[in-house]
Formats: sequence, C-alpha cells, structure tokens
Amino acid sequence: MDIARTPSTPDGNQHLADAAPEPQEPAIIRREDYTPFAWNLPEVHLHFELGLEETHVTAKLSVERNPQAEASPTIRLNGDELEPQSVAVDGEQVDSWTMDDGDLLVSLPGDAHEIVIETTINPAANTKLMGLFASNGMLCTQCEAEGFRRITFFPDRPDVLSVYSVRMSGTKAAFPVLLANGNLEESGEEADGTHWAEWHDPWPKPSYLFALVAGDLVSNTDTFITASGREVTCNIYVREGDEGRTGHAMESLKKSMRWDEETFGREYDLDLYNIVAVSDFNMGAMENKGLNVFNTKYVLADEETATDGDFDGVEGVIAHEYFHNWSGNRVTCRDWFQLSLKEGFTVLRDQLFSQDMGSAPVKRIEDVRVLRGAQFPEDSGPLAHPIRPDSYREISNFYTATVYNKGAEVIRMMRTMCGPERFRQGTGLYFERHDGEAATCEDFVKAMEDGAGLDLTQFRLWYSQAGTPKITARLEKDGEDAVLHLSQEVPPTPGQESKSPMPIPLRTAIFDRETGKHGGEQLVTLTEAQGSFRFGNVGASPVLSINRGFSAPVTMSRDVSDEDLVFLAAHDDDPFARYEALQDLVVGHLQHAVSGELSDDDRDSAREAIASAIGSVLADDSLDDLMRGELLVLPTEGYLAETMAIADPGRIHEERAALRSAIGAQLEDQFAAMHERASAVPYSLSAEARGARKVKTQALIYMAAGNPDRGKAMAWEQYQAADNMTDRQGALMVLAGADGIKRTNALLDFYNRFKGNALVIDKWFSLQSMSTHPGVIEHVKALADHPEFTLKNPNRVRSLYMGFAVNQNAFHDPSGEGYRVIADLILALDPINPQTAARFVTPLGRWRRIEPDRSALMKAQLERIAKAPGLSRDTHEQVSRSLG
Ligand code: ARG
Ligand code: ZN
Repeated sequence: MDIARTPSTPDGNQHLADAAPEPQEPAIIRREDYTPFAWNLPEVHLHFELGLEETHVTAKLSVERNPQAEASPTIRLNGDELEPQSVAVDGEQVDSWTMDDGDLLVSLPGDAHEIVIETTINPAANTKLMGLFASNGMLCTQCEAEGFRRITFFPDRPDVLSVYSVRMSGTKAAFPVLLANGNLEESGEEADGTHWAEWHDPWPKPSYLFALVAGDLVSNTDTFITASGREVTCNIYVREGDEGRTGHAMESLKKSMRWDEETFGREYDLDLYNIVAVSDFNMGAMENKGLNVFNTKYVLADEETATDGDFDGVEGVIAHEYFHNWSGNRVTCRDWFQLSLKEGFTVLRDQLFSQDMGSAPVKRIEDVRVLRGAQFPEDSGPLAHPIRPDSYREISNFYTATVYNKGAEVIRMMRTMCGPERFRQGTGLYFERHDGEAATCEDFVKAMEDGAGLDLTQFRLWYSQAGTPKITARLEKDGEDAVLHLSQEVPPTPGQESKSPMPIPLRTAIFDRETGKHGGEQLVTLTEAQGSFRFGNVGASPVLSINRGFSAPVTMSRDVSDEDLVFLAAHDDDPFARYEALQDLVVGHLQHAVSGELSDDDRDSAREAIASAIGSVLADDSLDDLMRGELLVLPTEGYLAETMAIADPGRIHEERAALRSAIGAQLEDQFAAMHERASAVPYSLSAEARGARKVKTQALIYMAAGNPDRGKAMAWEQYQAADNMTDRQGALMVLAGADGIKRTNALLDFYNRFKGNALVIDKWFSLQSMSTHPGVIEHVKALADHPEFTLKNPNRVRSLYMGFAVNQNAFHDPSGEGYRVIADLILALDPINPQTAARFVTPLGRWRRIEPDRSALMKAQLERIAKAPGLSRDTHEQVSRSLG
C-alpha cells in the first residue's frame, strides 16, 4: 500500500517475484480517507495490437503535477494481473520502477512527464470478464469499476479525467469491425491482411468509461436529430443473424434521447452513438462514452423470443445507459463511495422515463416490488449499507439494490417534496454546476437545495444511515377531525447501532367510508420519532390511505381493519394505494396463518374474504388489464419472509400455496372466463394486448392451483396456441410446476424449438430451476451436467442458479441440500468469475432470519466457503460480512 516500505529493485525478474500474491486480508478502503491524486493525466494515447490470445498494449500517458494535491515523487499506476514489459519516461527506458500489490510505481523527478508503458494481455483467458476479454470470437471491454487496470497500468480511479486517443489494429478477417469511444478519425488497411482504426473521444473521461470492441458484427443503423439540430448516427452492433431483433432497442434509444431533452433538458454531445451486444457479460450493460456495451439480454427482442417483460427490460436498460451520458459521464463520481450519485439518479431517470412510455401506476408497482424483493432484505441483513457506503474491500460488491434502487427512491423523495418543476431546476443546476467534474453525493444535495429551494439538512441522513425505517400509523377520531399519530424507528444495521429519526414524506388522504371520497391529498412529513397531524372535517367513518404512490421507502404498519383494507382495495383513487391495500390484506392473513394462531374456521373465512376481494378485481370494469394483472399477483414467499422476524419458509410456502388454491377454486369460472376473453385479443405491443397476456397467465396460475387438471389442460392449450413468448413462457411455467407427460413434452418442444438461441435456452433453464415442482433440486443437479450448461457464461449461471436461489421452497428444502447446491456453485465459480460468484452469497446470508434448523444448515455452508483456500476478495468479503 504504502510507497515508503516498497522494496526498490532494479532487476526485472525481481519485480515479478515481488508481485507474487501472498495470502493476506484484503485492505479496507474508507470514504473518509479520500485524497485527490497527485498527478493529472490530461492526455492518454493507447495502441492496441489485437489478438484473441495475445493483445499488445502500448499506453502513452502525459502526466503533470496536480496543484490541488500533495506532491509525490512517484506515481502509482494501478495494475491487476499485469506485468510491465517496458517502462519509459520522457523517451528513456527506465528500470527504477517497482511493484506494490500489483501496482506499478514510477519515480518522477519533475512537474510534467510522458510515460510509455507496454503490456501484453490474454483476453481469451480472461474469465472474470473484467478488462479486455473475448466473447464468441470478438474482443470487448468492461472497465467499471476497476477493469481498466487489467488492460494497462493506470491511475484507475474515477476522479482522474483524460482525453483518450486510441489506435487499434488487427486481422481484418477476425475483426472486421473496430470500435472505441468517441469519433472515428482515420482507418486503413495493410497488405498483410491487417487493418487499423484511430478513434478520438473529445470529452475528458475517467478510465472506467473506456471501451474497445473488435469483432465480426453487423449493425442496425439509424439517425437521431437532437433539439439543437445535431445529426447523430446510432448503431446497434450484433452478431450476424441477430439484426432482426434490434428494432425495439433502436426505438427505445431514440425515445430516450428525445425524453431526456424534454424532461431534463439534456442533449447528446457526439455525432455517433454505438451500442454493442455481447453474450458474456457480468451485468446488464455499461455506459462507456459513445460506445455502450450491452448484455444481449437487454438488446435483442422480438415477439417470438422475448416476453413483454423482456421488452420492458430492453427499453429500461437502453434508457438507463443513455441517461448516464449526463448522469454519470458528463458529471461523474469523485470516488466509488459516490456510486449512487450516478446510479441512484440514473435509475430514477429510467423509472420516470418508463412511467411516461407506458402505464405509470403499473411501473410504480413493479419498481416497488423490486425494491421490496431485493433491497429490503439487503437493508435488514448482514450486508446492509447506506446508499453512500463508508467502506468496502471490493467495490464490485457494492453494485447493489441499495445503491441503485434505494438510491433512486431517495432522490424520488426530493422530487415528491418539491414537485417536478422545482426538481428540474435543481437537477439543471446540478448538471450546469458540475459539468466536466467528478462530483459527490453532497454536491447533488447542495444543488437540490440551491436549485429546488429545499432544506435538506436532516434529509442527508438518507445518505448516511442504512436500514429501512419502520413506520407505525394510527388514525384517531377527534370530534369532526381525525388525528394521525405516526412514529418511526430506524433499525440497527452492521456498524450503525443507533440511528437518528429521518424525514419521512408520506402522501396521505383520509377517505370518508360513506361517500367513498377524500378531502384532498396532503404531504405529511414525519421528522421526529413521533408526530401527530390533524385533518379537519373527515366525516363519520374516516379511513386512512397513507404512503400513497409509495412516497417513502419504508415499511408501514397501520392500524386499519380488514374491512378498511377491502374498502381501499376497491375505492382508493391512488392505484398504488389500492394495490397496497390488497397486498396488506393478503400479507396480514398469511402472517397470522403461518404463526399458527388462526383457527380452521378463521382461516377459511379469511381465505374467502381475500378471494372475494380478488373477485371484485376480476369484475371491476374500471380497471385495465395491465393493472388488473398487477393486483392479482400474490406477494412472493421471499417478501413474506422479510415481513417476519424469524421466518419458516416451509410454513410460508404451504400457507401461500393453500391460499392460492382456495382463490383458484372459489373463482374458477371467473378465471376461466377472463382467460377466454383475453385469449381473443390478438398479439400486439399495445397496452390492451399486453394486459390481456398478463391476466391470461395469472388465470392459469390460479386455475392450476384450484383445479390442477383443468389448469394444466388450459396451460397446454395456451402453449400450443402461443404466437408469442409471453404466452408460451407463461404456459410453460405452469406446466413445469406439474407432473406428467405434458410437462415433459412441453419442455422438450421448447428446447428443440429454440435450440441455438442462447437467451431463450436461458429461459428453459430458469423455468425449471424456478419451478414449483417438488423435484427441483434433482432437476438443477441434472441441468448442471447438461451440455448447454457452462460456468463461463454469467447469463447461463444466473438462469440456472439465481432462479434456484430465489425459489424459496427449493432453496430452503429442510434437508439443507439447496444450501449445499449454492455453496458448491460459489466454490466452483469463484476461481472463474469471482464477481458473479459473490452475488450468490446473499441468499445464504439470510441465515439469522430463518428458523433454527435451517439457519444452522445455512451457516454451516457459509463457514465451509469461508474455509476454502484462495477465495477471491469478492467472495471473501461477502462471506465474512454474512458471518460477522
Ligand atoms: N454502470 C453500469 C450500469 O449500471 C454497471 C456496471 C457495473 N459493472 C461491474 N462490473 N460492477 O449501468
Ligand atoms: Zn447505471
């Protein structure tokens, strides 16, 4: 770490010996230790001689002392699995460099120098998929967060901004397309079959936004004219044969570009926007300046191979990466603790965009479902961290639902408090003030205070405190008025034992049960541990509707009767609140049922009451099918477990499945009628047709639970008749959960029909690993040996094993075999792809919240992983936090 104790040896081989890894606890990086880098690097010239197994990199760095930083006699250039082949300073080879923990240290006597470094890397051997790697014969990069240091030695930190020029050369036959950031300046061919290209990106950027792609690709090309008249060429590059499935991505890109101009006043700033789809990718996509690299999953879509959900995923991720051009690239992050500055804000931007493109209420419900499904468990478990973390060992572990999704909720609260117009003024000031800079979350908050006129003094706690606030709400009648009593508690999280009360903005309305109306919505902000708020003239029987639109990311326990919930489920004019009332009704019942405190009679009557509330949803003509489908989705087993202090996954599964059967049985004919009505709607991407498809599959799920034979027959019919993936996958999901020849035949048909299409074969794996079938564990073990399975492809790994890990009934099998399957996977995957392996630790990390027998089995698997020699920094950090 520290330069002073680094041995300085002039002999090249000795350097490499110094670099040999010694087992030691990885260092903790702390936010409070931030210091600016001692050197500026205004210009970077990179030269790549490309080869799949050998790529030669020459980096020419212009360096100048940073007057803002403490001077240093050396420059630390980060490296990861790199060896310097030659190092020159100001044109002279030097051998006075040293290595420290993979980094290259070069002494620099003066104030300005030129350093030239040569390295050779093997992209084909790069299974971590960080840095430069090979995928299906093409070369591409992933540099965020710390991948650039796997390409060349460099100050690989987001606050060092440089202008990049890239020259790349390679065999034309292998790499007909050569791409990098910015604009193509020049290209040419040599007589020996090689060709070359020179790219220049005029916008200074940190190394994590660097990108390079070389391969045999075809493009879908279109143009976009910006508000000020700039003509932008938009290319989506894919492998030959996939170009027919890029239309939706292109439409989404152009819509995003227009929307950001209209909604945030942000225009695109280059003449070229390139997107490349690759099938081996750790994440969804990457916003490299002018050259986004995407997981194929978020580019390719057509009706035959992609579900409506997949189409939405493409639209949302294309928008997300495009919006990063301002929230991320033009204004970047000072250090990785500020990750939510770009990610939280950009997630909010993509959510608002998708709300505008489709059904806003449905999008809001989906986003809350993601938050509750992924972020709430994180916030209440061993991996809890504030949206702006204070420390980390491996930054890849902090690309989390907290940083992304809770980060978006925090900024959304600011928007709720000031309204959309002032919000735009605040963000406008932020972009203007920090354009070209590496900024902090504090800079964003300050700009919102100055530009939107908010006082965010106390609100800053949302950045520093982890944990989901628990709110309790009680409405008390007082003469003509009603008084709302609120209290909050922010639970302790690792490293944060006691918390201060936070500002909780709650959109609230008081309904009059008699008239079915309310006297106007109010924004009530609870700032203390307790608070009371008076509402005048509320009528004889007031009903509380609170946290409408999910205005604050909190858990709410409200003192309302089931009758009130049924009333709100039928009458609330806020669609989210309506959904929430129905959810609360179901969650409340299942909590009671699971705890064993319900008599058989009470259980039956509760199931009947829920079924009749669902019956009203089926019958309500004022609902569109997209919203109806949303209301029909039962809370997941994972979310139910999250609402309980200690969960018994077996009991949760039983009670939830029994409730679903009871609803299916009671409403069998209504579901059948709805299925028939929806089946008559022809395929299109209209809201009506998408809604029809959504309720169709919901009907199958309930019917298969209530009347298995009829449900299976209908699912088989839907599978056979399907002219699109939404219907086909929905039907196959239901069939995969049941035994019999229809299951076998449908799975076989699906496999043969889509053989060769990796994204659809991923679905085939996940349909089986996520299935309700009792034999899932055996199925997953068998599928791991399937010729189409590989640990080298993250999409395939996720489809088989993430599907399994979220399948609560299978993962939590009382034998503990599910835990072993995941632990075995982590151990096998860790040496290949540590970033992806570490993601699988989270489900095991829930052990403290699970009943004692299973808990012990989960913990034992974590301990087994912890003992394994040579664990990656990624997995080591997650396992030790989970046990700690
Ligand atoms: N910035 C990307 C996005 O959210 C995510 C890249 C994260 N990559 C990683 N290897 N951790 O759009
Ligand atoms: Zn992002």
